Amino acid sequence: MESLVILISGRGSNMQSLLEARARIDRVTVISSNPDAVGLETARNYEVETIVIDHRSYPDRQAFDTALAECIDAYQPKLIALAGFMRILSDHFVQHYQGRLMNIHPSLLPALPGLGTHARALQEGIKIHGCTVHFVTPQLDHGPIVIQAAIPVLPRDTEETLATRVLQQEHLIYPQAVRWFMEDRIIMNENHVEVLDSSICEITLYSPGLSE
Ligand code: GRF
Repeated sequence: MESLVILISGRGSNMQSLLEARARIDRVTVISSNPDAVGLETARNYEVETIVIDHRSYPDRQAFDTALAECIDAYQPKLIALAGFMRILSDHFVQHYQGRLMNIHPSLLPALPGLGTHARALQEGIKIHGCTVHFVTPQLDHGPIVIQAAIPVLPRDTEETLATRVLQQEHLIYPQAVRWFMEDRIIMNENHVEVLDSSICEITLYSPGLSE
């Protein structure tokens, strides 16, 4: 049985894109670090099991990560997908799931790691922005890259318009990366990810300049 655990903390729109796609996954469990996450309600509408592990109930990050790992391990997931999970995970946690912990980040990594990526893209005058699905390593927002989507930064863009267009791409590339992983089509060599049998159109989801 192929099992996927999705970790969320808030809106859960990327989680929803994964639930919509749900390729070759027998069981999906959604775990939220926030009892008030809007995504919990969305997950229930998809009749997916939801669990809350409230980070405020634990004295420190280590205790929270231990509880989270115990919960995850009970499901023996093939993949753990971070989808707007707003907790920094300990090195020990990340190493425990090495090679099967994925994240989506709203920038073209390694540019703009961390928070506030759309505002920073505008501040820096970046012309091409986007999003990245990557494997998680102890260094924040720096793991091996699985897939990226790029969009142009337009003259009248605001933080909100950029966020909206990047999010549309997130909802395309994350399900694709998860599908590749679940189909055993991802090979990792050191810091590089190779996808077996992928066509060009699967990889280049957006070419800057072709549309707004
Ligand atoms: C997304 O922009 C994702 O890239 C980032 O956090 C945001 C989460 O949004 N990691 P949602 O909860 O998936 O709607």
